[in-house]
Amino acid sequence: MSELLNEISKSVRFIRQKTSFGPEVAIVLGSGLGEVVSNLETETEIPYSEIPGFPVSTVKGHSGNLLIGMWNGKKVVAMSGRFHYYEGYSLQQVTFPIRVMKMLGAHTIFITNASGGLNPAIKVGELMVINDHIYLNGDHPLRGRNEEELGPRFPDQHAVYDKKLIEKALDVAEQHKIQLHQGVYVGVTGPTFETPAEYRYLRLIGGDAVGMSTVPEAMVANHMGMRIFCVSVITDEGNPLVPQKISHDDVVRAAREAGPKMMLLLSEMLQHV
Ligand code: HPA
Repeated sequence: MSELLNEISKSVRFIRQKTSFGPEVAIVLGSGLGEVVSNLETETEIPYSEIPGFPVSTVKGHSGNLLIGMWNGKKVVAMSGRFHYYEGYSLQQVTFPIRVMKMLGAHTIFITNASGGLNPAIKVGELMVINDHIYLNGDHPLRGRNEEELGPRFPDQHAVYDKKLIEKALDVAEQHKIQLHQGVYVGVTGPTFETPAEYRYLRLIGGDAVGMSTVPEAMVANHMGMRIFCVSVITDEGNPLVPQKISHDDVVRAAREAGPKMMLLLSEMLQHV
């Protein structure tokens, strides 16, 4: 067995010793969005530091626990805190938990994040469902030997983000009077926020929002054939005409404020997976 498969199965075995719960849906919580799963009836909570193969989260606002339990009638495994490339982890490490959640049984993944708005029609505090991405990083989580047991060497990416789930989300948002945009997420490495010229460039190449996470996770989930649904909270505006100062604290605060909307949307979406 390869090193990666071996590491995944070690993690899965460890988690299965703690719980026999077989999750159907995986959830990744972005910066400031930990409260989104406050209605999850947690059956088992495992700190990342205890799970073999998991890196340890270092960023303020990310707590670092795997939560397993029921939410709105569905068996869920949630990552409270994620790993980022800018922390120094390899993209294989960043995406390792996604592989583990798939092997635990999750066929669908909901990924959330805080991102900067590039499309002037999308305002701070609003939600955007991701319908496509552009990845701006010379590195790639699938670089290296391919594990055929996990997925193909050259994964198709013509429909990474599940169209039916996007349509459902738009219906749900309308029913609950949540403003929900759709758009292209540009994945960058960070940790710097963009310069005005970079925001202008990212808008020109077709981006609606920009952030430092999500794309590696989505590419790996797609590699394994998971159904993928991603939502961004717009936490700041990358408006090159009116350059604004941004801090991580501002990002976390804006994401927290949008938490209740995100919670309602994800909770309702669980009914449709
Ligand atoms: N740029 C990159 N990442 C981000 C931003 C941003 O403006 N806001 C939140 N994450």
